[in-house]
Amino acid sequence: MEKVARGSLLGIEHLEAAEIAGILKLARQMDTRKPRPLLRGKRILLLFYEASTRTRSSFEIAAQSLGAATTLVLSSGSSIEKGESLLDTVYTLRAVGADLIVIRHPNAGAPQFIATHLDIPVINAGDGMHEHPTQALLDAYTILRHKKTITGLNVAIVGDIYHSRVARSAVQLLSKLRAKITLCGPPEFLPEVATTLAPGLQISRTVEDAIRGADVVMVLRVQKERLAGMNVSLDDYITRYQVTLPRLRLAKKDAIIMHPGPIIRGLELTWEVADCRQSVIVEEVRNGVPVRMAVLTRALGGRR
Ligand code: CP
Repeated sequence: MEKVARGSLLGIEHLEAAEIAGILKLARQMDTRKPRPLLRGKRILLLFYEASTRTRSSFEIAAQSLGAATTLVLSSGSSIEKGESLLDTVYTLRAVGADLIVIRHPNAGAPQFIATHLDIPVINAGDGMHEHPTQALLDAYTILRHKKTITGLNVAIVGDIYHSRVARSAVQLLSKLRAKITLCGPPEFLPEVATTLAPGLQISRTVEDAIRGADVVMVLRVQKERLAGMNVSLDDYITRYQVTLPRLRLAKKDAIIMHPGPIIRGLELTWEVADCRQSVIVEEVRNGVPVRMAVLTRALGGRR
């Protein structure tokens, strides 16, 4: 990997299990509403080239909870609309005093690219179909609020694996923590090559087989335009892969159901599943704040 500023978080791929454990431990210490001005005087730039509700708001709240100042730059309404390049945009943000840049971009590799041109940490808030590392960290954090350990857990990941940066980061992180992962989705969304993402991955062609005996059922977002682009009919997807209450009953009794959001009720999961007792979907969003506080503190070396 090319040299980047210490504290950057560009993906899960290059994180050691011990570093993951360290971030999760720090997040537990951050998990209070007590003011914690560890980053007072720091300036955090949130650079979003794609829509976001959860990631953007939780990074902003995390930064402000740590006493940092935040500035949001969106592709619409900024000079990006006038054709300014990504590199010139981040040089501009550095020149106005950014100490750290959080970036979401539709192109895989954009965070890595800017990180190699900057002397400040860069945090990947989702890049194309590549990675969404803070989502994987908050998912692990959420699992650990319900299960003693991730090692040995049966995790079923259901949906559009191929296009999902959430799946790519989750698979890498959960594999490093030695979960047993089964991927499930239509063949168009789940090529055999997916098993090379991490050692020991299983593929299941039926959602029933994937969910049976699972401790964790992670449902992914499915976009109608992607179904159309891959010639998968919406009705067929719903019939074969939608996570429903009868299907969820195949999982362990204490299984939790997760989804990174935004959820499309009636497509990848039913209303009943989204709101059921086992659903931790809202809790995942909540946990985004302490986890992102930990990631920012690690990046900027805030005194603990
Ligand atoms: N999970 C997630 O990244 O949601 P947003 O797109 O709303 O940030």
